[in-house]
Amino acid sequence: MQRKNKTLGEFIIENQQEFQYSTGELSKLINAIRLAAKVVNHEVNKAGLVDILGAAGETNIQGESQQKLDVLANEKFKQTLQNREIVCGIASEEEDDFITINSQDEQHQNKYVVLIDPLDGSSNIDVNVSVGTIFSIYRRVTPIGSPVSLEDFLQPGVNQVAAGYIIYGTSTMLVYTTGHGVNGFTLNPAIGTFYLSHPNMQFPETGRIYSVNEGNYTHFPQGVKDYIKYCQKEEDDRPYTSRYIGSLVSDFHRNMIKGGIYIYPKSSTAFNGKLRLLYECNPMAYLAEQAGGRASDGYRRILEITPTELHQRVPFFCGSRKMVEKAESFMAQYA
Ligand code: AHG
Ligand code: MN
Ligand code: MN
Ligand code: MN
Repeated sequence: MQRKNKTLGEFIIENQQEFQYSTGELSKLINAIRLAAKVVNHEVNKAGLVDILGAAGETNIQGESQQKLDVLANEKFKQTLQNREIVCGIASEEEDDFITINSQDEQHQNKYVVLIDPLDGSSNIDVNVSVGTIFSIYRRVTPIGSPVSLEDFLQPGVNQVAAGYIIYGTSTMLVYTTGHGVNGFTLNPAIGTFYLSHPNMQFPETGRIYSVNEGNYTHFPQGVKDYIKYCQKEEDDRPYTSRYIGSLVSDFHRNMIKGGIYIYPKSSTAFNGKLRLLYECNPMAYLAEQAGGRASDGYRRILEITPTELHQRVPFFCGSRKMVEKAESFMAQYA
């Protein structure tokens, strides 16, 4: 059991030996993400203030400041990772294509690729609701010394060597896994240090929260409709409580702590759902499994899906193991 209140820096050093390929590069990479998280946290926190200062321009395009923050978070993460020369490539929700990063010696010696959702839940920024960042790390599959290629990014989620998220909430937390459980660190903003506040996080085996955008109910597959009705039925410990923030990171974080299920199904208007396999579902699925939870597309384990394109979308069922299994049993009736 990890001692609480050690700093993230201490934790990274102490746990470096646990990494499968321990050359210190993955530690440097996590350190770079830690730094980028603090920078983006600073930007997110002052977003409201900037809006107030720029009130005269508010009528321009209301969505513009959100979009700016999407782009800004993307730039900050890219910059931090690029400057430290520890990754050979980055793919991002905000970029059309992946980015090749060359080391200073131009020898393409770095072995990790990072995939990011720089700002998750960005529609929540202008209403001051929690947003997040999601990251996912793989070892490249193409040989070191050659430029990174698409196949380095299109790996199934089981190949992830680390994944995590930052939640810019009532407090800012960085939650991540390197395949040895999930640990959560809370930022003390006064001194800019993350402390281990949530060691060995675990999804309760079952829970009483279901999180789904029920506004789309009429477009959902019958299995999802039936499961929602099951959640609402007065029987045993039901009806369950409905909670949906609309920021995957925040909905996931709450459900991991309290016990619950998150569903973003396919619908008649969005055939593969909305969430992106590479930037959102794979990292969250890895975290969920590492925390004793479960993640699927309703039928298949998310982590075993072989991606075919960077911005691929996939239906997502994720959370407490027994709740996801129950939802899958409803889906199976219409398979
Ligand atoms: P992003 O802001 O990175 O584009 O992600 C938004 C995602 C996810 O965070 C959230 O759970 C979902 O979109 C909400 O979608 P709906 O508004 O359709 O419910
Ligand atoms: Mn997102
Ligand atoms: Mn995003
Ligand atoms: Mn987006």
